[in-house]
Amino acid sequence: MPAVGSSLPRKDAWDKVNGKAKYIDDYSFAGMLHCATVRSPVAYGRLKGIDTTAAAAMPGVCRIVTAGDIPGVNVNPLVLDDQPFLATGFVRFHGEPVALVAADTYEHACAAAAAVKLDIEPLKPVLSIRESLDPASPRLYKEDNIFSRYVIRHGDLEAGFARSAHVFEREYETPYQEHAYLETQGMIAVPGIEGSMTVYGSMQCPFYVHDAVSAILGCQKNKVRIVQTTTGGGFGGKEDFPSILAGHAALLASLLERPVKLVYKREEDIIASSKRHPGLMKMKVGTDADGKIIAADIQYYVDGGAAATLSPIVLWRGTVHALGPYVCENVLIRSFAMATNKVPCGAYRGFGSPQVIFAGESLIDEIADTLKIDPVEIRRRNGLKIGTKTVTGQLIDQSCGLTETIDKAVAKSDWTRKWQHPSARSGQVRRGIGISTVYYGVGLGAGGKHLDRAGASMLIMKDGTVQCAIGNTEMGQGARTILAQIAADALGVTFDKVFVVETDTAFVPDSGPTVASRTTFMSGNALSAAAKELKPRLIEAAAGLLGAKPEEVDLVEGVAFVKTARETKRVAYADIVKEFYLRRLQPSAFGWYIAPDSTFDKETGQGNAYFTYSYATNVAEVEVDMQTGEVRVLRIVAAHDMGRAINPQQVEGQIEGGTLQGVGYATMEEIRHDAQGRMLNNAFATYILPTTEDAPEIEPIIVEHGYSEGPYGAKGFGEVPLMGIAPAVANAVFNATGRRIRIMPIKPEKLIDC
Ligand code: MTE
Ligand code: MOS
Repeated sequence: MPAVGSSLPRKDAWDKVNGKAKYIDDYSFAGMLHCATVRSPVAYGRLKGIDTTAAAAMPGVCRIVTAGDIPGVNVNPLVLDDQPFLATGFVRFHGEPVALVAADTYEHACAAAAAVKLDIEPLKPVLSIRESLDPASPRLYKEDNIFSRYVIRHGDLEAGFARSAHVFEREYETPYQEHAYLETQGMIAVPGIEGSMTVYGSMQCPFYVHDAVSAILGCQKNKVRIVQTTTGGGFGGKEDFPSILAGHAALLASLLERPVKLVYKREEDIIASSKRHPGLMKMKVGTDADGKIIAADIQYYVDGGAAATLSPIVLWRGTVHALGPYVCENVLIRSFAMATNKVPCGAYRGFGSPQVIFAGESLIDEIADTLKIDPVEIRRRNGLKIGTKTVTGQLIDQSCGLTETIDKAVAKSDWTRKWQHPSARSGQVRRGIGISTVYYGVGLGAGGKHLDRAGASMLIMKDGTVQCAIGNTEMGQGARTILAQIAADALGVTFDKVFVVETDTAFVPDSGPTVASRTTFMSGNALSAAAKELKPRLIEAAAGLLGAKPEEVDLVEGVAFVKTARETKRVAYADIVKEFYLRRLQPSAFGWYIAPDSTFDKETGQGNAYFTYSYATNVAEVEVDMQTGEVRVLRIVAAHDMGRAINPQQVEGQIEGGTLQGVGYATMEEIRHDAQGRMLNNAFATYILPTTEDAPEIEPIIVEHGYSEGPYGAKGFGEVPLMGIAPAVANAVFNATGRRIRIMPIKPEKLIDC
């Protein structure tokens, strides 16, 4: 059986379940020191002085550093390059790092960090999108507090609205979402010979960390090596932020010439690391009498926090996805990332799209209700199909399974029997059913196309095992397993022979970040390219043994054979490898893959924004207690078109995990601040997440509309399972109660009249 398409066991499962896997906090190096961070106690203020005298005299303290001690540049290199490693002049959010302490133990480091005295003159902070937009508020970034903005326009908006039979105007708001990965952020920096620095740690994007460490140390790139250790979840939260920790640990390690460990406790991880951006969506949509969308005017605002970090890229994805998977001729989409005095927001599964999807999918449900059209039917009527164009004018010319995901989710959920108008629901506990559809541009798209490439190397060892090095990372999503499946089939060997090692910048060139669900597609294609070079060499050895010409021989699943006599003239992999080594054939190969082209016109937002799209339909069933306002999500049917399911069981695992994160986003998760902008609930006791008790029955459905450029047709979909859950739940809550919740999360107090 081919490896691709089989639910083969995960390569990393055994070590993870029996506790052998080594996470960063499990590592220790001789002479290692421990680091603690001194943080701003206020949201905004002038940093007038840092007094380290008392702290420096405390037990075990080796060194305390501030921004002035940085030998390189005090900026994390990313997009707009405006986030300092350590604050200078001003502090701009509660929890911002100001100084670092290295000590012999973690406890000593923490005690000394608490004794560092900060002289801060507090200033009035800007705490929301609306405040940031207000011209009377302080200017945090340039003259308008806007980090970044985009526009998409085509058609004739005025004429579109004039032609519309109905025009709907609504506002929606979405909250922060914390990644809540099981393993907190952590790094160990280890100085080496000849001025080198190796940093080990938990991360998604070793090449971003590489850039950051060479920036803060001001050293040559060849001196820096980044090694990813087993990473206990990322979900976007370990995209840009690990660069800050790595920079901090490397700074101390380089000044002290000793290894330095920096691992966050949960409370500081929540206070200081990135989150999903709060969103504000102002939607105006015009339709004809049948609910066909004719015009859309959308404004999308995100709360970027105190530094731009990834906001420009997150915002770009949200902009392209702002209308959802629908056709519309007359469009104006404007989007803005706003500066505030809160923690910088960044990537979180869906990357700026769950906010707009909540708005768009809630609105289309409102339209259906007003026009008395079935919520499924209105989506079918407007949905993207082969031959239609997206809001950026991109022709969908292949691999579009949207309609099939709708059909299958509707059938499996028994929609037709279960859907009733809210007015027909009664009783204290009411059930409801709701739907959402989404599309998702795979990879970085035109917004980050210069980074959209990947390398991979492959080495056939003397015993025939194949070692693969990739430039993307495993963070729990199963990359090392599915990439081994792709590599095995591409090379013609069996899955048990192929191993993907953890990512190390010394072995692979910069392959871009491990985000945007791009790993399967990008690293899969890079491995296929390497296999394309290696396989002919294996065949050359096999042909020698078979006394045939190489072109007469093929190699499939570890058996080489003469194509015309597959059963009789064959040779086993072990013998081929022996012959391969006797012939001194080159046992390694390197593959390089560049993503198909994408375009985006800055003035009009027109172009082929992404090279391909994945699609999904979610149907949620909920139960609402009308007396307490409590919502229970009972069941979610999730149909996904990811091109090809390389490992169906892992696809189902991704759907289950992402769906539960979506349930949390919909019904319980939010970050609260006090009036001064201090975060109030930076602990798992107060930041409420769904547990297994809250998990609905999740029914995954795989739909495969292969993409011609994908490895075995695969597109990429790791983020999609979360993206459409919140509106499906909100629409189900409406269907149960007749109440439309436009400000997430859907908490009991919003459903009952207190
Ligand atoms: N699944 C697990 N178990 N852990 C994770 O951290 N991250 C998600 C998703 N699924 C994540 C996960 C996010 S945000 C992305 S971008 C993709 O996986 C990245 O992996 P892929 O490129 O292999 O799809
Ligand atoms: Mo995922 S948010 O693109 O790391």
